[in-house]
Amino acid sequence: MSGSAKRMAKIRPFYVMELLARAKQLEAEGRSIIHMEVGEPDFDSPEPVVRAGQQALADGLTHYTPAMGITPLRETIARHYQARYGVKVDPGCVIVTPGSSGALQLVMSILINPGERVMMADPSYPCNRNFVYLVGGDITAIAVDHRTDYQLTAEMVASHWTPETRAVMVATPSNPTGTLIEKAELQRIHQVVQERGGVLIVDEIYQGLIYDEPGYTALEVADDLFVINSFSKYFGMTGWRLGWMVAPKTYVGDIDKLAQNIFLSAPTPAQYAALQAFSDETLKITEERRLAFQARRDYLYPALTSLGFKIRSMPKGAFYLYADCSAFTSDSYQFAMRLLEEEGVAITPGRDFGDNHPQTHVRFAYTTAIPALEEGVRRIAQFIGR
Ligand SMILES: Cc1ncc(COP(=O)(O)O)c(C=O)c1O
Repeated sequence: MSGSAKRMAKIRPFYVMELLARAKQLEAEGRSIIHMEVGEPDFDSPEPVVRAGQQALADGLTHYTPAMGITPLRETIARHYQARYGVKVDPGCVIVTPGSSGALQLVMSILINPGERVMMADPSYPCNRNFVYLVGGDITAIAVDHRTDYQLTAEMVASHWTPETRAVMVATPSNPTGTLIEKAELQRIHQVVQERGGVLIVDEIYQGLIYDEPGYTALEVADDLFVINSFSKYFGMTGWRLGWMVAPKTYVGDIDKLAQNIFLSAPTPAQYAALQAFSDETLKITEERRLAFQARRDYLYPALTSLGFKIRSMPKGAFYLYADCSAFTSDSYQFAMRLLEEEGVAITPGRDFGDNHPQTHVRFAYTTAIPALEEGVRRIAQFIGR
């Protein structure tokens, strides 16, 4: 017998990575490429974080840590919730993971039995589906649109609930739409899930990158839910591979047991570096960057809509615009590929995010400076004007 396990048949590629590879290849051949596909900040990690990471290496902090992370970091994260959102979090319920991807893998593994379902919005972050498939579960993908800001509502959760439903997963701000769930709606969703004996998972990995309101954490709503977070986006630390989750106390023992087995621990120098992530010095830098992202959004949103892209819900967070491109194409994948080949502008086709009209949607990431965005818009205008 040879070949991969059957479960691999359900795992789809992360198409944007293919597009990124092609964009890099064109760049290597000397073409100028405007990157509006990449889901990571263009800013390097903040200086204080880098210095702390270098110090950790110099101090020989290169060995395993406890599976759930170093105590000072777990305490620092807990204090951050208190300082920023006024929520008391038990550091014992904070688990430091290799990226939020590590947290997602842990959470799906400890919660989902084969045949059980996780409910989520379509469109949404593609890897979440695959984490569920990996443990033999299935997803209930609910098609959402601008009428609910591309988010699940309590009513949708209630009406799609089946005996197999084990968990509901939401993301605020969302990838790919940058939209939020209002706190009152999250409260209602939590209540529906709780009444049915399920579990709520809230992806807050774009927390902090929010532009028109102060924001909140789901931990203000309840403590019997899972919150997933990351140092990747707001703290600009994608390559350090560090995230965290806050879990209900009853699950912590199982999470520890599984983390010991599958990761041993999150990267050690990264954990020491992250101790500086919440310092005043770093937060001053991340706040400046947040304002830079906001300025980019405020440039790109009207620029794209005036070209004829339809962005039906104002994106209030993350660094994405999810746009209807039906004025130009009914095949967003070909559209993105041709735009890359002919004009050197890389964007993400909708099919990465689900099956809800992916062929007429594309995602723009404003993870590049305004002059490059302006050049991108100029090239797109030229492309669609042909
Ligand atoms: C919604 C969402 N969740 C999770 C992740 C994973 O990020 P990381 O593993 O770097 O924390 C991403 C990355 O793009 C994302 O957009």
